[in-house]
Amino acid sequence: MMIKLRKQVIEILKVLKKKKTEQLASTLAKELSIDYIVLMAAINDLIDHDLGGFREEEINQILLNDEGRFYLENGLPENQLLKLMMENDVKEINMEELLTKSKLDQQIFYVGLSNMRKNGWIAQSKASGENMVFLVTEDFQETESEKFIKTFKTSPTRDYSKLSKNELRQFNLLNKRKLFTKEKKTQRYVFLTSKGKTIKMSEVSELKHISKITPEMLSSGTWKNYDIKPFDVTKPGPSLKAGKIHPLIRLINEIREVFISMGFTEIRGPIVESAFFNFDALFQPQDHPARELQDTFYLERPKFAKLPEKDRVLAVKATHENGGDSNSLGWRYQWNEKIAKQTVLRTHTTSTTMRYLAQFYRNKDKVPVKVFCIDRVFRNEKLDKSHLAEFTQIEGIVIDDNVNLSDLIGLLSEFYKKMGFKKIITRPGFFPYTEPSMEVSVYYDKLGEWLEIGGSGIFRPEVTYPWGIKNPTRVLAWGQGLERIAMLYYDRKDIRDLYINPIKWLRQQPY
Ligand code: PHE
Repeated sequence: MMIKLRKQVIEILKVLKKKKTEQLASTLAKELSIDYIVLMAAINDLIDHDLGGFREEEINQILLNDEGRFYLENGLPENQLLKLMMENDVKEINMEELLTKSKLDQQIFYVGLSNMRKNGWIAQSKASGENMVFLVTEDFQETESEKFIKTFKTSPTRDYSKLSKNELRQFNLLNKRKLFTKEKKTQRYVFLTSKGKTIKMSEVSELKHISKITPEMLSSGTWKNYDIKPFDVTKPGPSLKAGKIHPLIRLINEIREVFISMGFTEIRGPIVESAFFNFDALFQPQDHPARELQDTFYLERPKFAKLPEKDRVLAVKATHENGGDSNSLGWRYQWNEKIAKQTVLRTHTTSTTMRYLAQFYRNKDKVPVKVFCIDRVFRNEKLDKSHLAEFTQIEGIVIDDNVNLSDLIGLLSEFYKKMGFKKIITRPGFFPYTEPSMEVSVYYDKLGEWLEIGGSGIFRPEVTYPWGIKNPTRVLAWGQGLERIAMLYYDRKDIRDLYINPIKWLRQQPY
């Protein structure tokens, strides 16, 4: 049977057939001018067809260290000293003078000097009172040490076990002078199996890989002549750096889906809002601390907003002053229209909910009604890793006859379940515009913790009566911040990341 191999593998098979003996992979790769990895990939192909193989051998290799390499370039210190004396035609010299002239480090100088003596090149004498160095021969053969060190010019590393007896002696001498490092290395030898050795080249044909079949290949039938490149579907593809939807927008869209799947309709409202809809319509007295400047951004231009229908403004005024027709005593103070006209950046989406109630009244809409709002709100907060001055709120309301707290808890359970939180817990809370009010906490599996996530309640009569929503028709409402949830979803420790957009994090997001 024909064996199909890549062109390059065939070439390597031919080479190995010619060589007959096993080959050191690194040397063979160099000889063939191919990458070591390419060679080993080819050997693997041969292994797949039982034609070849490789074995590993651990060797101790020796190589010159920095100092050794310096001497390879410039000569051993004894040779440097000799060269200095010869070039200057010096037969005898004061040792100190030689040291200065040599510019060698003192310790290296002494090593050089002592080796000159050992080589029989010099003698030293203090007979004259000076420490003198004399050249005692004119015949300077290349030393064994020099010869040995020079062998590293052609191959920077050598196999320790392959050193000759004499080389070993030289190595030990120079190694004492700390000119070498020793390294363990695994070497691979590649070879042909007996099948590889005996197979005829006529039994091998070239594998022609293609990765695509064209319509022409199909109609002409030529696709049969090719080998279709197998794809490894477990390997990750190249990473794409294309544009994608921002994680916050993606989360908002998911939450929209949750509301819409529960039959809610989206409402929007202005960012620049009147204090009337942001506070007054919500039965927040005009001296309420939340209205103070540290929380609310009041605007200079435009300074005042238009109020809705006069009679509705009067109805809201009445709830503040005496409860109006809501059966409440109100806050019992003189309500000031000018304060209600002030413009603010809305501090919550509940202002948009109130605008919706005004429209509901105007349009004489029928219950039940289910609307939601996901939008930007503003509070004068100091920024830190868990606070933003500009963030997003999610809010939903249901207007219907005879709805009560159980309906609200049911609604919240359903909503948070769809958001991925299986368990919720509600506790008494306070908002100026709901009674009763509840804080909502959800159980977050990943942390094994309860997290306080939002507020909810039934709008007070003072809030709904001005808009014709009267007992037993009620408004169930709940609201919360988006970014806290985003931090959980995306596992961000710093809320600011959601707007600063660390590029690494964005790149990790799915498309
Ligand atoms: N508006 C409240 C807030 O900003 C949340 C809320 C909405 C509470 C609706 C009760 C009802 O925190």
